[in-house]
Amino acid sequence: MYTLPAYIFLAVAFLLPLWVFYTRYGPSEYKGAPAGESQTGVSVHILVLGDIGRSPRMTYHALSIAKHGGKVHLIGYLESTPHPDLLNNPNITITALPPPPRWPQSVPFILFAPWKVIHQFYSLTKLLSYGLPPAQWILVQNPPAIPTLAVAGFICYLRESTLMIDWHNYGWTILAGTKGSRHPLVYVSRLYESLFGRLGFVHVTVSAAMARQLRKPPYSIKSAMIALHDRPAAIFQPVTSQKERKEILTRVIPEKNLVPRLLDGSMRLVVSSTSWTPDEDFSILLEALTRYAAGPGEKSPVLAVITGKGPQKGMYEKKILELTKAGRMPNVRVTTAFLPFPDYAKLLACADLGVCLHTSSSGVDLPMKVVDMFGAGLPVAAYSGYESFKELVKEGENGRGFGTAEELADILGHLLSPSGQAELGTLKMGAVKEGSRRWDEEWDSKIGMIMGLVT
Ligand SMILES: *[C@@H]1O[C@H](CO)[C@@H](O)[C@H](O)[C@H]1NC(C)=O
Repeated sequence: MYTLPAYIFLAVAFLLPLWVFYTRYGPSEYKGAPAGESQTGVSVHILVLGDIGRSPRMTYHALSIAKHGGKVHLIGYLESTPHPDLLNNPNITITALPPPPRWPQSVPFILFAPWKVIHQFYSLTKLLSYGLPPAQWILVQNPPAIPTLAVAGFICYLRESTLMIDWHNYGWTILAGTKGSRHPLVYVSRLYESLFGRLGFVHVTVSAAMARQLRKPPYSIKSAMIALHDRPAAIFQPVTSQKERKEILTRVIPEKNLVPRLLDGSMRLVVSSTSWTPDEDFSILLEALTRYAAGPGEKSPVLAVITGKGPQKGMYEKKILELTKAGRMPNVRVTTAFLPFPDYAKLLACADLGVCLHTSSSGVDLPMKVVDMFGAGLPVAAYSGYESFKELVKEGENGRGFGTAEELADILGHLLSPSGQAELGTLKMGAVKEGSRRWDEEWDSKIGMIMGLVT
């Protein structure tokens, strides 16, 4: 029926108005620093589809860029109070995203998830296209990957920004942990993440193992890849004076009567922080403490302070009470606490050993809490069953790794006993050394160079 010229006519008649509309109403493009500012002015949109107050790494990126004179728009949810330095920084603007729709439990997840994604896609695209001026860089945190990676890639294309992806983990492996690896959404999100992940011009990872993995299928990323290890925040510092230790313990420990024994070393202080979720199996620590208490030889009394908030806290508190009442944990006291951040940092600095139960869904992410423990000069006993573990904890240098409750019990038995003091001292020195390398050195030499902020 139709001939070729007719097709061409139809195509032009349809596309021309679209093109005119887009050039008139589409988002503006990035064309160098705005007039009036120096041409070297770097502008960055940092995008995290999570609570800004609980996104330490994106916070540090923002502070580093601002410190070197770059202009930052930090985009995310405002749930808890963001880092105070973000709020009074003239080079940083925080833009809050509208809260995502809530999940009515009567609606199946498979129906709710797409609706939430469409809602987020719309509000993000609108904000990044029209709500903010174009930026030289868009730095996006992954995960969550959906829909941020696609939106950020799309906006970078429209506005001529350069996309940098900061890989903390993978969205699909986390989803597989809660939904099971055979769930259709897991398949879709794996495909999505590996396709849209390739849109990044520069990739930043939390571990070298993750950088290696991103080069391989299903990601097969060819562009620049930089491993940038997390470093402790300035608030985490070792405490050396006994006077300060006394002041902190008296303030922070709920059982005041134990403080003198902690100070003279006749009772040892073990600290662990947990999110009380099934992916961090707290029963390992509980079993290890029971084994420690029941083990042979003379045992130093132990106070274990467990900090954090989460869904399984009540259940485990009941278990702790039962074990204590049944006399299964002689000489071991376990208390739970939720401390303000500065107190948590100080508590770490006063402890003898930190315990980390973090397991990794991807095998290549690293627990921030161990980084913070090192910052406070605290050696760790950490679960070691994942690939990137060795990038963080050096066995016998700044900590010990364990795979089972039995192994953890052995480590506690050795390091907390009088015969283990020499080794614990060595580990402590190693932790102080590891913790003394801070974020700025790491960031300036890697990301600062690439963004053109550091020469
Ligand atoms: C903000 O940027 C300017 C340069 O434009 C710089 O001199 C200043 O130190 C920065 N301020 C902060 C708090 O990072």
